[in-house]
Amino acid sequence: MTQVRNVDPAKILFENNKPVIDDIDTKETLKSACEILQHNDIIAFPTETVYGLAANCQSTDAVQKIYTAKNRPADNPLIIHVSSREMITETLGAEIPPVYEPLIKKFWPGPLTIIIPLPQKSTISPLCTKGQQTFGCRMPAHPVARALIEMSGLALAAPSANASTRPSCTEAKHVLEDLDGRIPLILDGGAANVGVESTVVDGLSSPPKILRPGGVSAEELRKFGGPEWENVISEVNVEVKDSDSVRAPGMKYKHYSPKARVVLLDEDFNSIELKSIGGSPKKIALLRSRLIEASSIERLWPNTKVIVFELGELKSQISHNLFSKFRDADNENVDLIVVEAVDTSDEGMAIMNRLNKAAETHVHAA
Ligand code: TXA
Ligand code: MG
Repeated sequence: MTQVRNVDPAKILFENNKPVIDDIDTKETLKSACEILQHNDIIAFPTETVYGLAANCQSTDAVQKIYTAKNRPADNPLIIHVSSREMITETLGAEIPPVYEPLIKKFWPGPLTIIIPLPQKSTISPLCTKGQQTFGCRMPAHPVARALIEMSGLALAAPSANASTRPSCTEAKHVLEDLDGRIPLILDGGAANVGVESTVVDGLSSPPKILRPGGVSAEELRKFGGPEWENVISEVNVEVKDSDSVRAPGMKYKHYSPKARVVLLDEDFNSIELKSIGGSPKKIALLRSRLIEASSIERLWPNTKVIVFELGELKSQISHNLFSKFRDADNENVDLIVVEAVDTSDEGMAIMNRLNKAAETHVHAA
Protein backbone atom coordinates (compact mmCIF):
# COMPACT_ATOMS: atom_id res chain seq x y z
CA MET A 1 0.00 0.00 0.00
CA THR A 2 1.21 3.45 -0.86
CA GLN A 3 0.56 6.12 1.75
CA VAL A 4 -0.16 9.71 0.63
CA ARG A 5 0.60 12.40 3.22
CA ASN A 6 -0.03 16.13 2.87
CA VAL A 7 2.74 18.62 3.52
CA ASP A 8 1.81 22.28 3.29
CA PRO A 9 4.78 24.13 1.77
CA ALA A 10 3.62 27.37 3.44
CA LYS A 11 4.42 25.81 6.83
CA ILE A 12 8.11 25.47 5.97
CA LEU A 13 10.24 28.60 6.28
CA PHE A 14 13.96 28.95 5.65
CA GLU A 15 16.60 30.81 7.62
CA ASN A 16 20.12 30.71 6.18
CA ASN A 17 19.02 27.90 3.90
CA LYS A 18 17.89 25.75 6.90
CA PRO A 19 14.24 24.72 7.25
CA VAL A 20 12.38 26.18 10.21
CA ILE A 21 9.14 24.28 10.89
CA ASP A 22 6.78 25.14 13.74
CA ASP A 23 3.93 22.86 12.73
CA ILE A 24 4.22 19.47 14.47
CA ASP A 25 2.41 17.42 11.78
CA THR A 26 4.60 18.85 9.03
CA LYS A 27 7.73 18.07 11.03
CA GLU A 28 6.57 14.51 11.77
CA THR A 29 5.68 13.77 8.17
CA LEU A 30 9.03 15.03 6.92
CA LYS A 31 10.87 13.07 9.61
CA SER A 32 9.22 9.80 8.64
CA ALA A 33 9.97 10.52 4.96
CA CYS A 34 13.63 11.06 5.92
CA GLU A 35 13.72 7.77 7.80
CA ILE A 36 12.45 5.87 4.78
CA LEU A 37 15.20 7.43 2.65
CA GLN A 38 17.85 6.75 5.28
CA HIS A 39 16.81 3.08 5.26
CA ASN A 40 17.50 3.04 1.51
CA ASP A 41 13.91 2.92 0.41
CA ILE A 42 12.28 5.38 -2.05
CA ILE A 43 9.51 8.00 -1.85
CA ALA A 44 7.79 10.46 -4.20
CA PHE A 45 8.07 14.16 -3.38
CA PRO A 46 7.02 17.48 -4.93
CA THR A 47 9.43 19.80 -6.69
CA GLU A 48 8.64 23.07 -8.47
CA THR A 49 9.00 21.37 -11.88
CA VAL A 50 7.33 17.94 -11.53
CA TYR A 51 7.08 15.27 -8.80
CA GLY A 52 10.27 13.27 -8.27
CA LEU A 53 10.97 9.72 -7.09
CA ALA A 54 13.81 9.97 -4.58
CA ALA A 55 16.56 7.64 -3.38
CA ASN A 56 19.84 8.15 -1.54
CA CYS A 57 22.21 8.60 -4.51
CA GLN A 58 25.06 6.97 -2.60
CA SER A 59 23.21 3.65 -2.19
CA THR A 60 22.98 1.34 -5.19
CA ASP A 61 20.32 -0.69 -3.36
CA ALA A 62 18.15 2.40 -3.03
CA VAL A 63 18.71 3.64 -6.60
CA GLN A 64 17.89 0.22 -8.03
CA LYS A 65 14.44 0.55 -6.46
CA ILE A 66 13.77 3.66 -8.59
CA TYR A 67 14.40 1.74 -11.81
CA THR A 68 12.24 -1.13 -10.63
CA ALA A 69 9.30 1.05 -9.50
CA LYS A 70 9.27 3.14 -12.69
CA ASN A 71 10.14 0.33 -15.07
CA ARG A 72 12.75 2.74 -16.39
CA PRO A 73 15.18 1.70 -19.17
CA ALA A 74 18.54 1.26 -17.48
CA ASP A 75 20.48 3.52 -19.87
CA ASN A 76 19.18 6.92 -18.77
CA PRO A 77 21.23 8.74 -16.07
CA LEU A 78 19.53 10.36 -13.05
CA ILE A 79 19.67 13.91 -11.71
CA ILE A 80 21.07 14.37 -8.18
CA HIS A 81 19.21 16.84 -5.97
CA VAL A 82 21.01 18.86 -3.30
CA SER A 83 19.94 21.55 -0.84
CA SER A 84 23.29 23.38 -0.60
CA ARG A 85 26.56 23.82 -2.46
CA GLU A 86 28.33 22.06 0.44
CA MET A 87 26.45 18.90 -0.42
CA ILE A 88 28.15 18.92 -3.82
CA THR A 89 31.61 19.73 -2.52
CA GLU A 90 31.57 17.86 0.81
CA THR A 91 29.01 15.04 0.63
CA LEU A 92 29.76 14.22 -3.01
CA GLY A 93 33.38 15.49 -3.12
CA ALA A 94 32.88 17.21 -6.48
CA GLU A 95 33.97 20.62 -7.73
CA ILE A 96 31.55 23.03 -9.36
CA PRO A 97 33.07 24.31 -12.65
CA PRO A 98 33.28 28.14 -12.62
CA VAL A 99 31.38 28.38 -15.94
CA TYR A 100 28.14 27.72 -13.99
CA GLU A 101 28.60 30.42 -11.33
CA PRO A 102 26.43 33.16 -12.89
CA LEU A 103 23.66 30.64 -13.59
CA ILE A 104 23.78 29.18 -10.08
CA LYS A 105 23.61 32.66 -8.63
CA LYS A 106 20.54 33.49 -10.70
CA PHE A 107 18.63 30.21 -10.90
CA TRP A 108 19.40 28.13 -7.79
CA PRO A 109 17.36 27.02 -6.04
CA GLY A 110 15.28 26.46 -9.18
CA PRO A 111 14.60 24.48 -12.37
CA LEU A 112 18.17 24.28 -13.73
CA THR A 113 20.29 21.10 -13.87
CA ILE A 114 24.04 21.41 -14.49
CA ILE A 115 26.44 18.70 -15.66
CA ILE A 116 29.43 18.33 -13.30
CA PRO A 117 32.53 16.09 -13.68
CA LEU A 118 32.54 13.12 -11.29
CA PRO A 119 35.26 13.34 -8.63
CA GLN A 120 38.19 10.87 -8.88
CA LYS A 121 36.83 8.67 -6.10
CA SER A 122 33.11 9.05 -6.52
CA THR A 123 30.65 7.80 -3.90
CA ILE A 124 27.67 8.34 -6.22
CA SER A 125 26.11 5.03 -7.18
CA PRO A 126 27.13 4.08 -10.75
CA LEU A 127 23.42 3.39 -11.31
CA CYS A 128 22.89 7.18 -11.28
CA THR A 129 25.57 7.98 -13.85
CA LYS A 130 25.30 5.03 -16.23
CA GLY A 131 28.93 5.07 -17.30
CA GLN A 132 29.17 8.86 -17.81
CA GLN A 133 32.18 10.67 -16.29
CA THR A 134 29.74 13.41 -15.23
CA PHE A 135 26.58 13.76 -13.18
CA GLY A 136 23.53 15.99 -13.50
CA CYS A 137 22.81 18.08 -10.41
CA ARG A 138 20.18 20.57 -9.30
CA MET A 139 18.98 22.43 -6.22
CA PRO A 140 15.16 22.40 -6.27
CA ALA A 141 13.21 25.43 -5.05
CA HIS A 142 10.11 23.68 -3.66
CA PRO A 143 10.11 24.07 0.15
CA VAL A 144 9.17 20.40 0.69
CA ALA A 145 12.00 19.22 -1.56
CA ARG A 146 14.55 21.54 0.06
CA ALA A 147 13.49 20.56 3.59
CA LEU A 148 13.50 16.83 2.76
CA ILE A 149 17.04 16.96 1.37
CA GLU A 150 18.37 19.16 4.16
CA MET A 151 16.72 17.18 6.99
CA SER A 152 17.74 13.78 5.61
CA GLY A 153 21.29 14.96 4.95
CA LEU A 154 21.17 12.94 1.72
CA ALA A 155 21.82 13.96 -1.85
CA LEU A 156 18.83 12.46 -3.64
CA ALA A 157 18.81 10.83 -7.05
CA ALA A 158 15.37 11.59 -8.45
CA PRO A 159 13.85 11.09 -11.87
CA SER A 160 10.33 12.28 -12.57
CA ALA A 161 7.87 10.14 -10.58
CA ASN A 162 5.82 8.85 -13.53
CA ALA A 163 5.90 5.27 -14.76
CA SER A 164 8.31 5.10 -17.71
CA THR A 165 6.74 6.42 -20.99
CA ARG A 166 3.83 8.12 -19.14
CA PRO A 167 3.57 11.92 -18.87
CA SER A 168 5.48 13.35 -15.88
CA CYS A 169 3.43 13.88 -12.73
CA THR A 170 2.54 17.41 -11.68
CA GLU A 171 0.21 16.34 -8.84
CA ALA A 172 0.40 13.67 -6.13
CA LYS A 173 -2.69 11.92 -7.56
CA HIS A 174 -0.81 11.33 -10.84
CA VAL A 175 1.97 9.57 -8.93
CA LEU A 176 -0.64 7.40 -7.23
CA GLU A 177 -2.15 6.53 -10.65
CA ASP A 178 1.24 5.29 -11.87
CA LEU A 179 3.00 3.88 -8.81
CA ASP A 180 0.33 2.77 -6.28
CA GLY A 181 1.61 -0.26 -4.38
CA ARG A 182 5.13 0.17 -5.77
CA ILE A 183 6.44 2.76 -3.28
CA PRO A 184 5.74 3.26 0.44
CA LEU A 185 5.05 7.02 0.51
CA ILE A 186 4.01 10.02 -1.59
CA LEU A 187 4.43 13.50 -0.08
CA ASP A 188 1.62 15.67 -1.41
CA GLY A 189 2.77 19.31 -1.56
CA GLY A 190 0.16 20.49 -4.08
CA ALA A 191 0.43 21.05 -7.83
CA ALA A 192 3.91 21.64 -9.26
CA ASN A 193 4.25 25.23 -10.31
CA VAL A 194 6.43 25.03 -13.45
CA GLY A 195 4.88 21.84 -14.87
CA VAL A 196 7.75 20.77 -17.15
CA GLU A 197 11.09 19.35 -15.99
CA SER A 198 14.27 21.32 -15.32
CA THR A 199 16.49 22.64 -18.09
CA VAL A 200 19.60 20.43 -18.36
CA VAL A 201 22.73 22.33 -19.47
CA ASP A 202 26.25 21.20 -20.32
CA GLY A 203 28.77 23.98 -19.65
CA LEU A 204 31.72 21.58 -20.02
CA SER A 205 31.56 21.71 -23.82
CA SER A 206 32.35 24.80 -25.86
CA PRO A 207 30.02 26.42 -26.76
CA PRO A 208 27.79 25.29 -23.89
CA LYS A 209 24.73 23.23 -24.77
CA ILE A 210 21.14 22.80 -23.71
CA LEU A 211 20.63 19.03 -23.38
CA ARG A 212 16.97 19.34 -22.40
CA PRO A 213 14.89 22.53 -22.53
CA GLY A 214 12.83 23.11 -19.38
CA GLY A 215 11.91 25.57 -16.65
CA VAL A 216 14.72 28.02 -17.50
CA SER A 217 14.56 29.29 -21.10
CA ALA A 218 17.42 29.67 -23.61
CA GLU A 219 16.78 33.43 -23.55
CA GLU A 220 17.29 33.48 -19.77
CA LEU A 221 20.51 31.44 -20.01
CA ARG A 222 21.87 33.93 -22.58
CA LYS A 223 20.80 36.92 -20.55
CA PHE A 224 22.08 35.87 -17.13
CA GLY A 225 24.85 33.32 -17.80
CA GLY A 226 27.69 35.72 -18.64
CA PRO A 227 29.78 35.70 -21.86
CA GLU A 228 30.12 31.89 -22.25
CA TRP A 229 26.37 31.42 -22.25
CA GLU A 230 25.65 34.08 -24.87
CA ASN A 231 26.48 31.41 -27.47
CA VAL A 232 24.59 28.54 -25.87
CA ILE A 233 23.37 26.06 -28.46
CA SER A 234 20.54 23.61 -28.39
CA GLU A 235 20.68 20.29 -30.16
CA VAL A 236 17.30 19.18 -28.97
CA ASN A 237 14.47 18.45 -31.29
CA VAL A 238 11.65 20.95 -30.99
CA GLU A 239 10.04 20.11 -34.32
CA VAL A 240 8.62 16.80 -35.49
CA LYS A 241 10.89 15.99 -38.42
CA ASP A 242 9.27 15.33 -41.79
CA SER A 243 10.34 11.71 -41.61
CA ASP A 244 8.52 11.38 -38.28
CA SER A 245 5.20 12.35 -39.78
CA VAL A 246 5.26 9.51 -42.30
CA ARG A 247 6.14 6.83 -39.77
CA ALA A 248 3.39 4.49 -38.67
CA PRO A 249 1.69 5.28 -35.36
CA GLY A 250 3.50 3.74 -32.43
CA MET A 251 6.84 3.47 -34.24
CA LYS A 252 8.23 6.59 -32.68
CA TYR A 253 10.09 6.26 -29.38
CA LYS A 254 7.41 6.86 -26.79
CA HIS A 255 8.04 9.43 -24.09
CA TYR A 256 5.78 11.76 -22.16
CA SER A 257 2.95 10.00 -23.88
CA PRO A 258 -0.71 9.75 -23.13
CA LYS A 259 -2.33 6.50 -24.23
CA ALA A 260 -4.27 8.20 -27.03
CA ARG A 261 -2.65 9.27 -30.32
CA VAL A 262 -1.46 12.88 -30.23
CA VAL A 263 -1.50 15.23 -33.23
CA LEU A 264 -0.05 18.75 -33.13
CA LEU A 265 -1.84 21.51 -35.02
CA ASP A 266 -0.78 24.90 -36.29
CA GLU A 267 -3.39 27.61 -35.90
CA ASP A 268 -4.25 27.50 -39.63
CA PHE A 269 -3.84 23.72 -39.94
CA ASN A 270 -4.65 21.86 -43.14
CA SER A 271 -7.97 20.24 -42.26
CA ILE A 272 -7.93 17.74 -45.14
CA GLU A 273 -4.63 16.42 -43.84
CA LEU A 274 -5.90 16.27 -40.26
CA LYS A 275 -9.03 14.42 -41.32
CA SER A 276 -7.01 11.78 -43.16
CA ILE A 277 -4.45 11.36 -40.36
CA GLY A 278 -7.08 11.33 -37.62
CA GLY A 279 -9.00 8.38 -39.06
CA SER A 280 -12.31 7.56 -37.34
CA PRO A 281 -11.90 8.53 -33.69
CA LYS A 282 -14.70 7.71 -31.25
CA LYS A 283 -13.85 10.54 -28.87
CA ILE A 284 -11.49 13.49 -29.35
CA ALA A 285 -9.76 15.79 -26.87
CA LEU A 286 -8.80 19.28 -28.03
CA LEU A 287 -6.05 20.78 -25.87
CA ARG A 288 -6.68 24.40 -26.70
CA SER A 289 -4.49 27.37 -25.91
CA ARG A 290 -5.15 30.38 -28.06
CA LEU A 291 -6.76 30.24 -31.45
CA ILE A 292 -8.18 26.88 -32.45
CA GLU A 293 -11.92 26.60 -31.74
CA ALA A 294 -13.75 23.35 -31.02
CA SER A 295 -16.00 24.01 -34.05
CA SER A 296 -13.07 23.61 -36.45
CA ILE A 297 -12.54 20.07 -35.14
CA GLU A 298 -16.25 19.23 -34.75
CA ARG A 299 -17.03 20.00 -38.36
CA LEU A 300 -14.43 17.43 -39.49
CA TRP A 301 -16.01 14.70 -37.32
CA PRO A 302 -19.68 15.73 -36.92
CA ASN A 303 -20.68 12.53 -35.11
CA THR A 304 -17.76 12.41 -32.69
CA LYS A 305 -17.72 13.90 -29.22
CA VAL A 306 -15.04 16.61 -28.84
CA ILE A 307 -13.98 17.46 -25.29
CA VAL A 308 -12.14 20.75 -24.87
CA PHE A 309 -9.36 21.15 -22.29
CA GLU A 310 -8.05 24.68 -21.82
CA LEU A 311 -4.26 24.91 -21.54
CA GLY A 312 -4.31 28.66 -20.90
CA GLU A 313 -3.04 31.46 -23.11
CA LEU A 314 0.32 32.33 -21.58
CA LYS A 315 3.16 29.92 -22.23
CA SER A 316 3.78 29.68 -18.48
CA GLN A 317 0.17 28.47 -18.11
CA ILE A 318 0.55 26.03 -20.99
CA SER A 319 3.65 24.42 -19.47
CA HIS A 320 1.97 24.32 -16.06
CA ASN A 321 -1.09 22.51 -17.48
CA LEU A 322 0.25 20.36 -20.31
CA PHE A 323 1.06 17.06 -18.57
CA SER A 324 -2.03 17.11 -16.35
CA LYS A 325 -4.33 17.77 -19.34
CA PHE A 326 -2.74 14.83 -21.16
CA ARG A 327 -3.70 12.68 -18.18
CA ASP A 328 -7.20 14.17 -17.98
CA ALA A 329 -7.72 13.38 -21.68
CA ASP A 330 -6.61 9.79 -21.10
CA ASN A 331 -8.99 9.46 -18.19
CA GLU A 332 -11.83 10.41 -20.57
CA ASN A 333 -10.73 7.50 -22.78
CA VAL A 334 -10.39 9.65 -25.88
CA ASP A 335 -8.63 7.98 -28.78
CA LEU A 336 -7.30 11.15 -30.42
CA ILE A 337 -5.74 14.20 -28.77
CA VAL A 338 -5.21 17.30 -30.90
CA VAL A 339 -3.03 20.04 -29.42
CA GLU A 340 -2.38 23.57 -30.54
CA ALA A 341 1.33 24.19 -31.26
CA VAL A 342 3.16 27.28 -29.93
CA ASP A 343 6.24 29.16 -31.19
CA THR A 344 9.55 28.13 -29.63
CA SER A 345 10.53 31.40 -27.94
CA ASP A 346 10.79 31.50 -24.12
CA GLU A 347 8.85 28.63 -22.47
CA GLY A 348 7.77 27.56 -25.99
CA MET A 349 10.97 25.59 -26.52
CA ALA A 350 10.30 23.25 -23.58
CA ILE A 351 6.61 22.98 -24.48
CA MET A 352 7.29 22.07 -28.12
CA ASN A 353 10.01 19.61 -27.09
CA ARG A 354 7.53 17.73 -24.88
CA LEU A 355 4.74 17.98 -27.47
CA ASN A 356 6.93 16.64 -30.24
CA LYS A 357 7.96 13.67 -28.14
CA ALA A 358 4.33 12.85 -27.44
CA ALA A 359 2.99 13.60 -30.93
CA GLU A 360 2.91 11.38 -33.94
CA THR A 361 2.47 14.18 -36.46
CA HIS A 362 2.42 17.97 -36.80
CA VAL A 363 -0.22 19.27 -39.19
CA HIS A 364 0.87 22.61 -40.64
CA ALA A 365 -0.97 25.15 -42.80
CA ALA A 366 -2.31 24.00 -46.17
O1 TXA B 1 12.77 18.72 -13.15
C1 TXA B 1 13.45 17.70 -13.16
O2 TXA B 1 14.59 17.68 -13.62
C2 TXA B 1 12.82 16.43 -12.55
C3 TXA B 1 12.58 16.70 -11.07
C4 TXA B 1 12.10 15.48 -10.34
O3 TXA B 1 13.73 17.23 -10.48
N1 TXA B 1 13.66 15.29 -12.78
C5 TXA B 1 13.77 14.70 -14.02
O4 TXA B 1 14.57 13.58 -14.06
O5 TXA B 1 13.22 15.13 -14.99
P1 TXA B 1 14.58 12.57 -15.28
O6 TXA B 1 15.39 11.41 -14.79
O7 TXA B 1 13.22 12.27 -15.73
O8 TXA B 1 15.43 13.30 -16.38
C6 TXA B 1 16.84 13.40 -16.26
C7 TXA B 1 17.45 14.03 -17.48
C8 TXA B 1 17.53 13.03 -18.61
O9 TXA B 1 17.19 13.67 -19.81
C9 TXA B 1 18.99 12.61 -18.58
O10 TXA B 1 19.41 12.14 -19.81
C10 TXA B 1 19.67 13.90 -18.14
O11 TXA B 1 18.78 14.46 -17.21
N2 TXA B 1 20.95 13.64 -17.45
C11 TXA B 1 21.16 13.21 -16.19
N3 TXA B 1 22.47 13.04 -15.93
C12 TXA B 1 23.13 13.36 -17.05
C13 TXA B 1 24.52 13.38 -17.43
N4 TXA B 1 25.50 13.02 -16.62
N5 TXA B 1 24.81 13.78 -18.68
C14 TXA B 1 23.82 14.14 -19.55
N6 TXA B 1 22.50 14.14 -19.26
C15 TXA B 1 22.15 13.76 -18.03
MG1 MG C 1 11.34 11.86 -16.83
